[in-house]
Amino acid sequence: MIEKITKFLVLFTMSAILFSGCYYDKEDLLYPVGACDASAVTYATDIEPLLSNSCYGCHSNTQSQTAGAGISLEGHANLSSYVNTQADRLIGAVRQEPSYSPMPKGGSPLDACSIQKLQAWIDAGAPNN
Ligand code: HEC
Repeated sequence: MIEKITKFLVLFTMSAILFSGCYYDKEDLLYPVGACDASAVTYATDIEPLLSNSCYGCHSNTQSQTAGAGISLEGHANLSSYVNTQADRLIGAVRQEPSYSPMPKGGSPLDACSIQKLQAWIDAGAPNN
């Protein structure tokens, strides 16, 4: 009897180790290192399309007066002047940090890579590139 229990425990432990091995293999596939490349972000190819898709509905020049609390983020001039004075507010809002109004308002949060790109572009000095 004791022998059976010992065998069971040995088998159980071995399969636990085997299955946990599989789990980590899958995690590597799901979250490959370097999947988000925020090293070559530009306003024209990354930032403008992102804001156009997720923010212009309320923060374009025309919509901002009625739907976007007077904040226009359309075009490089408007966005960079907002970033120059209130970058923390912009990042805090899209990261949905507690002291900011979560953006995009009423929509699903931006994905992590988009936020990383926005941060990288701001860190680079919000260039018109
Ligand atoms: C559905 C309309 C809507 C959309 C879409 C939207 N906003 Fe807003 N945004 C607002 C309104 C309205 C306010 C004023 C604060 C409030 O009512 O929550 C605001 C406020 C803000 C603020 C100031 C936040 C604060 O805490 O003071 C920032 C920054 C901002 N929006 C950025 C964005 C960005 C970036 C996007 C796109 C990722 C976006 N918004 C999408 C409507 C919107």
